Amino acid sequence: MQAGRRAEPAKGCAALPRGGGPCQTPPMSKAPGMAETMDPTALSSGTGMPKAGHPAPRPMLAAAPAGPLTGRVTVPGDKSISHRALMFGALAVGTTLIEGLLEGEDVLRTAAAMRALGATVERLAPGRWRVAGRGIGGLTEPADVLDMGNSGTAARLLCGLLAGHPIFAVLTGDASLRARPMRRVTDPLAATGSEFHSRAGGRLPLAVRGAVDPMPLDYRLPVASAQVKSACLLAGLCAPGTTRVVEPEPTRDHTENMLRHFGATVRVTDTPKGRVIELEGQPELFAAPILVPGDPSSAAFLLVAALLVPGSRLTIEGVGLNPLRTGLFATLREMGARLTVENARIAGGEPVGDLVAEHGALRGVGVPAGRAPSMIDEYPVLAVAAAAAHGTTRMRGLRELRVKESDRLAATEAMLAAGGIQAEVEGDDLLVHGTSGAIPGGGTVATHMDHRIAMSALVLGLAARTPVRVDDAGFIETSFPGFAALVNHAAGEAAIRPT
Ligand code: S3P
Repeated sequence: MQAGRRAEPAKGCAALPRGGGPCQTPPMSKAPGMAETMDPTALSSGTGMPKAGHPAPRPMLAAAPAGPLTGRVTVPGDKSISHRALMFGALAVGTTLIEGLLEGEDVLRTAAAMRALGATVERLAPGRWRVAGRGIGGLTEPADVLDMGNSGTAARLLCGLLAGHPIFAVLTGDASLRARPMRRVTDPLAATGSEFHSRAGGRLPLAVRGAVDPMPLDYRLPVASAQVKSACLLAGLCAPGTTRVVEPEPTRDHTENMLRHFGATVRVTDTPKGRVIELEGQPELFAAPILVPGDPSSAAFLLVAALLVPGSRLTIEGVGLNPLRTGLFATLREMGARLTVENARIAGGEPVGDLVAEHGALRGVGVPAGRAPSMIDEYPVLAVAAAAAHGTTRMRGLRELRVKESDRLAATEAMLAAGGIQAEVEGDDLLVHGTSGAIPGGGTVATHMDHRIAMSALVLGLAARTPVRVDDAGFIETSFPGFAALVNHAAGEAAIRPT
């Protein structure tokens, strides 16, 4: 954990109590288009720096070949749903109770922002939060800059929320977030009548003056992005009439689901030109309880570790199985993975199940570009699974990976190279040449302020012949507090440890 980056202390709870369970001690102690790129200068300027200006220590971890991962575990709450739960809670009339909220740094930034905008946001117990909302249009001007840390979702959704409120706010973030393109949201949102002023290239910090009388949007997304879709819909809440968003490919629909859950009218129609989402503006949103499922994107790391480490049979309980999030599971099954779902159910309006993963041989496959929206965050860990497979895996159409927390396409290729795996980027495709279970390992992986690169590299180390180190594990706290502790618990040994 890097000093000075946490929006709010997690009160010593480093492990994974979901659903209000007791706090555990970690066992470790036991463009739209072509123009959109990362700002290449930003990451070299360092970061994760505490405000006082002293560089934070970078926690280095190494993962060594592990014993089998067994037993039953739960992963922290879904990050996408957690952000939205806090935002919708703040916009609703009444008090929203949230169970299983992810208490990672990204979501804590959203909690802090909602407080700064006038909502009452309280932590009652681990994972159990209460939000007293202000009603649509009721957010108030923040007294200070809103620092969204490492979180693109928080920053982009907040732009939508602010566009509809007649207030002034300034958003910033860490060096990774300040390098990421924001025009994909500010361009469409400006049509509401709101004004955005940003650094060159549409980067944070940016200032927004929300519209006094916001106009509804009618926007066709140039890229498949749930963040952009959600920003437009959040702005549409404050506008009269119908806000219409068309997405070229369906992306995660947690915003639409939660809008309905809070009483808004949302129509979704699949047409030959894409998925059309229409929201009736200025609804009354009524507070409603939210149960956050386990994050499938976090479960992915344990799942792939269990598939790769001989002798493993691991059950991950209560994982969200929204079909717009499960592309990785489909791909792993095509690779021959022994992966099943038990106890499938609906919880809190989302499909949920217990994932059972068993070690076995995998084979290389072709992953179609059309699958990317349903597994956009899972490519680094899929690349690790592909490294262990027999044959080559080609993942197509990964251009969006270039504008994630890092240039994830380049970072994944470099991670594999550090672990002794042959891989190439060809255009927007990633090719990984599998080792039939004989991953060499041995290198140090540069994480580039990217939690998913850090965790994928550690999974690589668990399945390799020699340990793999990561240069900065601090960013794992953004999405998966207690990751190393949970892996070690499942492995029955300190396979991941400080170095
Ligand atoms: C998210 C959408 C995705 C994903 C991100 C979370 C969301 O981003 O990568 O981690 O919660 O809406 P894009 O919308 O940029 O694809």
